[in-house]
Amino acid sequence: MKLLLDTANVADIRYFNENYPLVGVTTNPTILSREGGDIVAKLLEIRNIIGKDKQLHVQVTESTFEGMVAEAHAIVELLGENTFVKVPVSDLGLKVTKKLAEDGIGVTETAILTATQAMLAAEAGASYVAPYVSRLENIMADGIGTVADIADIFANAGYSTEILAASFKTAKQVLDTALAGAETATVAPDVMKLLAAHPTSTSSIEGFERDWNKAFGDNTLLSLIKKN
Ligand code: G3P
Repeated sequence: MKLLLDTANVADIRYFNENYPLVGVTTNPTILSREGGDIVAKLLEIRNIIGKDKQLHVQVTESTFEGMVAEAHAIVELLGENTFVKVPVSDLGLKVTKKLAEDGIGVTETAILTATQAMLAAEAGASYVAPYVSRLENIMADGIGTVADIADIFANAGYSTEILAASFKTAKQVLDTALAGAETATVAPDVMKLLAAHPTSTSSIEGFERDWNKAFGDNTLLSLIKKN
């Protein structure tokens, strides 16, 4: 499953972009509000950190059809290729999505809580749909089941729209989402860290180092090869 980082924190973006196999970064108005300051400069900085080939998803903040369309074009003009405009799902959002798809702008339909919303977004021409897994589970709904339903609907209809699952509070939710058929997920830094972590991996690595050092001291395999 392709992974994006769900944050606008540049220190986290630098760290995870360098160490993890990320395909991009997602933001939303709440995430950007946490950073504050010159948000245009912040978005340009994020684009600069991840480079022009990775995805950057940025949400519209205008509330009219004309405003959202103009804002979407401005976002893509500012941040270049591989920028996706997030449009919250609603009657207006679907209308905006149809227009942006016609204009050749990649849309991520966001705030998806039902499989039928995802189906409509795909029909409207969205590149991605973003179902909110934790927000579904917090209202006693089936977050993973909704992702699985969307995956089935997309496979049946042959849509090229991909699932960009979002809103994770646990690493297990990310795993279950991948098993349910999502091609892509966006994950906040704290949960992203958990995807790679395991105490037995850490103790295994420590054991390898201890045993090697006991036998060969400060030498590494590289230094021994070079001495040959
Ligand atoms: O970016 C949208 C989505 O990730 C929201 O996540 O954690 O605010 O439910 P959360």
